[in-house]
Amino acid sequence: MTGVTARLALVLALTLVACKKPEPPPRGRTAEVRPPAVPWSDAWLDGEAERFLDDLAARRGALEASLKNAKNSYSRQRLGSYALGDRGWDTLPAWNPRSAPVTANLAARIAAGQEPGLPEETPPLWDGQRPTTQAGWVALGRRVFFAYPLREDAFVEYALARPALAAEVGIERPANGEVPGAVVFASVDGTTRIGITCALCHSAVERGELIVGRARRRFDYGRLRLFVHRETGESIEPELARRMAGWGPGRADVTEDNDEDPVAIPDLWGLRAQSALTQAGTIRHIGPSALAIRQETQLLHSNHQRVRPPRELAWALAMFVYSLEPPPPAPPPVAAAARDRIARGGALFALACAGCHSNSAYGGDPVPVARVGTDPALAEGGARGTGQYRPPSLLGVASAAPYLHHGAVQSLEDLLAPERLAPGYRRGVQGPGPVVGHAFGTDWPEPDRAAVVAFLRTL
Ligand code: HEC
Ligand code: HEC
Repeated sequence: MTGVTARLALVLALTLVACKKPEPPPRGRTAEVRPPAVPWSDAWLDGEAERFLDDLAARRGALEASLKNAKNSYSRQRLGSYALGDRGWDTLPAWNPRSAPVTANLAARIAAGQEPGLPEETPPLWDGQRPTTQAGWVALGRRVFFAYPLREDAFVEYALARPALAAEVGIERPANGEVPGAVVFASVDGTTRIGITCALCHSAVERGELIVGRARRRFDYGRLRLFVHRETGESIEPELARRMAGWGPGRADVTEDNDEDPVAIPDLWGLRAQSALTQAGTIRHIGPSALAIRQETQLLHSNHQRVRPPRELAWALAMFVYSLEPPPPAPPPVAAAARDRIARGGALFALACAGCHSNSAYGGDPVPVARVGTDPALAEGGARGTGQYRPPSLLGVASAAPYLHHGAVQSLEDLLAPERLAPGYRRGVQGPGPVVGHAFGTDWPEPDRAAVVAFLRTL
């Protein structure tokens, strides 16, 4: 062999070795036999966390398995960019922001027309250490929920400088004077900005106290934006203005499309029990990685795809969301008649409702929109549509009015009332006219309807 052919042969041999697949483990024997961890136990969550954080193929697999309808724009965006390794969103820099909550002091400074200012000594939100306990993940998730900016928000900034306007559009403040959901942070471009966080929409103030996980049902983002446009004389497309005026409090169109499909901000109770996430069941809840991916891509998307959150923060956020629990329901009545009524309502619920509201949080598997019959815009929309609506959890439902995915029904009594379905109906949240669909129970005699409402109030 000449020197050249010898070298070629060597290169070829090395290439063959490199290409050779690893031997499969011998049949019938596995390296280690471990009992499967019980779902939602700490050991199980540790295993899930490891796969989500350290295994690209597992993350990609989880994304694909969790998207209910690969054709809607929510799925297409993610399939085209998520967990692709050397391209797409994985190549974005991980952003660990310096961010501080808007405290009472800071709110007062902003209201007095001063620059918000971020104290020099503010450290990045995360110290870079992976938590080692479930409690540690939840605590980190809480910080993300309150302080990781989804994006800068000039409208909220405008409102903070005008406290009366802020109060009017539902930027609520608990007794300690903080503004939960608003932060001052060092933005990606280096400037100091006001931003919004999860807590702006998913926490609410009741009698001066902050209830974390409850939908901010007084928050009227459409009205705030219209107000700012009017005051500043900045132009706005008439069509967009009309749509924003129609949102009403507690609703937001969280998609970037032109579908007319604002949805109610939901309470975040009982999500572990749900087989699908979001009201149209856009995400199959195959495990906690499904929620972590939702949160990772939501943060990345709202930050205009310039940066991505460190994956640990997305996982922590999911753990925090799972940990949220509704405030305890009112104590049961003492009067025997009232107790009997609740028991009767429970029996009726088991017969007529629990087929769909079937899990431990009284939510259930998504149902075809034709079967539930409510406004199909969201279920059939190109943004998140799946052809279905998911029965929401009914934990704390007494405090969750207005009802249904679009927040169209004022009260539980109205949901069950036959008048709601008739042309002369005038009590709909979004104006006169019938609110169709979810007719279950509306043909019952009044005492039965009252009994099921009494039962719902105990959940
Ligand atoms: C501007 C208001 C707003 C902000 C800010 C916001 N959300 Fe939401 N959230 C909504 C709306 C509206 C929905 C309903 C979407 C749907 O069902 O399609 C929703 C749905 C959800 C759901 C699905 C719940 C279910 O019933 O399946 C989760 C989980 C959630 N949000 C968590 C978060 C987290 C975590 C953050 C912060 C990263 C956040 N949200 C920020 C408005 C908001
Ligand atoms: C065929 C399945 C099905 C049956 C039967 C059913 N539901 Fe539902 N329920 C749903 C779905 C799906 C939604 C969400 C619909 C939407 O938002 O458009 C829902 C929503 C609700 C809501 C609104 C919760 C909220 O926070 O907005 C309540 C309350 C409710 N159901 C109670 C009941 C009661 C009481 C019964 C029995 C009389 C019942 N449901 C029977 C599927 C069902």
